[in-house]
Amino acid sequence: MQIVRQLGPLREALAAFRQAGSTIGLVPTMGALHAGHIRLIEAAKGQCDAVVASIFVNPAQFGVGEDLDAYPRQETADATLLDAAGVALLWAPAVDQIYPPGYATNVSVRGVSEGLCGGARPGHFDGVATVVAKLFNQVRPDAAFFGEKDFQQLAVIRRMARDLDFTHDIVGVPTVRDPDGLALSSRNAYLTPEQRASAVALPEAMQEAAEAIAAGGNIVSILTEARARLLAAGFHKIDYLELRDAETLAFQNVFTRPARLFAAAHIGKTRLIDNIPVS
Ligand code: PAF
Repeated sequence: MQIVRQLGPLREALAAFRQAGSTIGLVPTMGALHAGHIRLIEAAKGQCDAVVASIFVNPAQFGVGEDLDAYPRQETADATLLDAAGVALLWAPAVDQIYPPGYATNVSVRGVSEGLCGGARPGHFDGVATVVAKLFNQVRPDAAFFGEKDFQQLAVIRRMARDLDFTHDIVGVPTVRDPDGLALSSRNAYLTPEQRASAVALPEAMQEAAEAIAAGGNIVSILTEARARLLAAGFHKIDYLELRDAETLAFQNVFTRPARLFAAAHIGKTRLIDNIPVS
């Protein structure tokens, strides 16, 4: 696996892939890789000849007081995993390769970026859309792969790609979970063993609520009960627990298919997010 940090060598390596007739799959990440990322690589390998993974901890998508400095950085271990998974090239840009001196451009996606994580983390999706647009232009992939765990992020990226005429496929890959149901996340590394044991209440409460909503129950009381369950389990703040349209992400107070349940809640110093279909 080649490891490339500057745009010139990236362009040369990509030209060589294309000259050899290879299609290119891009898997953007912020590192601290886990089995969920490897599932993205596998999906990319299934659809493209050469897989390019990127690792860039993007300052623009962290708000003031968020975990930018503490965000886990482990490039050597990540590179070993990516190499073993069959990645052809790791794009690990220096900051000035993404944000050159004087950088002044922002990509902002209205609508789908509002509410949910967009409400709780102002500016977050501008940072995501901006860096992903940059990565798309730098790599010009045939397909790009993102986890459904960040379902709103996926919706923002799909909207941005349609609006800015990126024509490659945007592929959503189902969430990978631990055997007890907790969605894999780089931030799970922050959890103490006690918090990790309590965190399972999140997927459990969501699953029960999703089933009760699909069975025709009262949405407000079901979600109130689910919130109480999370607080009793040790979560101390719930940013949101909401039913939304699975395509437009519009708020639903009447259950209408296709729907999805979205949650973000804090346990200890860690903010966990999850989403599941309500069918
Ligand atoms: O999902 C992530 O890891 C990041 O938000 C992404 C898409 C790599 C952009 O920085």
